[in-house]
Formats: sequence, C-alpha cells, structure tokens
Amino acid sequence: MSSTSSGEMVYVEHTAGVHGLPKIILREVRGCSAEVYLYGAQVTSWKNEHGEELLFLSSKAIFKPPKAIRGGIPICFPQFGIQGSLEQHGFARNRFWIVDPDPPPFPTITSNKAFVDLILQCSEEDVKIWPHRFEFRLRITLGPGGDLMLTSRIRNTSTDGKLLAFTFAYHTYFAVTDVSEVRVEGLETLDYLDNLKNRERFTEQGDAITFEAEVDKIYLSTPTKIAIIDHERKRTFVLRKDGLPDAVVWNPWDKKAKAIPDLGDADYKHMLCVEAACVEKPIVLKPGEEWKGRQELSAVPSSYCSGQLDPQKALQSE
Ligand code: BG6
Repeated sequence: MSSTSSGEMVYVEHTAGVHGLPKIILREVRGCSAEVYLYGAQVTSWKNEHGEELLFLSSKAIFKPPKAIRGGIPICFPQFGIQGSLEQHGFARNRFWIVDPDPPPFPTITSNKAFVDLILQCSEEDVKIWPHRFEFRLRITLGPGGDLMLTSRIRNTSTDGKLLAFTFAYHTYFAVTDVSEVRVEGLETLDYLDNLKNRERFTEQGDAITFEAEVDKIYLSTPTKIAIIDHERKRTFVLRKDGLPDAVVWNPWDKKAKAIPDLGDADYKHMLCVEAACVEKPIVLKPGEEWKGRQELSAVPSSYCSGQLDPQKALQSE
C-alpha cells in the first residue's frame, strides 16, 4: 500500500517483514523508498526512484534473532569490532528497538515527511553485560530527492556519576555491480589501522583505493565526504558524515566469504562496506551529556560528470 483509498501518499507504513518481524517502509513522492526493521533498527533496503536497490542484502541473510541481519545498515554500538568486553560490534544490532513515542525536537526544522524515530533503552539484561545507562535515539529520514539520512543521539542517563564510553559505526553495505571495478575517493594518503594485521597503523599510498583482495581497514581522521564509484553501473554513492571521524572499509573477498554462514559464496563481489565510524578514540559522555552522529547517503549517476567519474563534479551537479 503506497497510497490511501483517497489517493494520498503514505510516507510511513508500518508492516511485517521476513518471519513477521515488524518493518517500516518510508516512501517519497518520486518513488524512492527505504525499509527499516525494528530488530536492530536496521535499514535493509534503500531504492531510488527507478526501484533499483542501492544497499546490499545477503542472499543468505537470516532474519531470526539473536542473529544480526547481514546487509543494509547494521548499527555497531556500544562497541565496534572485538575490542572490548562485548560480542563483536556490540548489541544494538540484535535488540528490538521501539518507535520513539516522544522524540525531543531536532534543532533544524525540515519539511521531510518520510521519517521514523526509534529508540533503544538499556534493559536490565543489557546492564548486566554492560554496566551503563543510556538512551539511544535514531531518526531515519528519506529526503524528497531520495537521500537517506541517519541521525543518532546517544545520551548518558547515569544517575551515579558514571561516564559513558563507546565506539560506534553505521556498518553500511553498498550494493555494487563488481567490487573489483569500484573506486573509493576521499581516503587516499590517510593513516589507517589494519584489522588484518592486529590493528597496526599504516599510511595509504597511491592515488585511488581499489579492490583486488580482502580488506578490513579503519581509516583515521577522514573527511566529511567520501565517494564510492561503481564504474560498471556508472553510479556514485556520496557518503557525508558528521561526528564520526573514522571510516571502516571492509570486504571479506572469496575465502572469508565462504566462512561466513549467512553470506553467499559470490556475494562479496556485489558488496562493499564503507562505514562512518568512531573507533580509534571512544566517545566519552558525562552524565546528562548527549552525542550526535550523522550519516547521509546519496546516489547519483556518474554520467552526470560528463564522462569523468569525479565525485566532486557529481556533488556540484546535484
Ligand atoms: C567489519 C569489521 O566492520 O565488519 C570486520 O571491520 C568484520 O572485521 C565485519 O569481519 C563483519 O562483522 P560481522 O560481525 O557482521 O560478521
């Protein structure tokens, strides 16, 4: 259902997804859409006005808690990776979130109609494995032009003076035609921690980031704009971020893909994770303090750049 019986557009639809899990569909007038599961507050689909899927979802994704959904945009919180006391990437991606009944107002007034406010509050079970009190509010918005915006607001709700320290990532799986034909711009010459080498620090060499083997890197002090250029599809994804200094780039390649049970053997060719993150230096909040971290995605035809796949030009032509 995308319109009411009187023909009015339904911007936000509450429905059921795989295995009856609650799902929210956001739609915009031009025909673009996004789907969000309350399980993990996970975006699992983002389509442009032609109905083309822009996010990768594994052909073997398991929609059964407590397993996280493989694909889309999992939220890594309160721990990115294995550094810490929790399971890999923390627990936000395998908790049921609820629709926020009373979201505090956003400082900027927008005319967007396709958005949903979700909240994750720590349960007593969570406090047992991670002794902290927090409130995590997430607004997911589909802009009229099809841009997908995620804004996280995390507050330390401790009443006993305890600091809240966490790491974070929007673990975005971009759908690409063939990862070996993809180039990432914006991370050249930066320092990174290599997850494949015990997080040893290196400096990126060369003028373009391309892919021909497994990669698992945490780029540090990254710019607020990163472009992912899919040469074969002539599409450029532009990732803009705020409050998230790092950027993780991950592709398991063939061997590791085979060892991941919920990833198809050849799926690695059609995905690339570029993740707006805060990993190297954890965010630390005093009681009552709030942190905000935002990621905005847009997808533009690379042909806008008159034959040159230059993301700067793609941005100017928006
Ligand atoms: C990436 C990490 O962000 O996520 C990788 O850098 C990890 O090290 C990958 O393998 C997938 O993690 P998971 O827990 O979803 O299989």
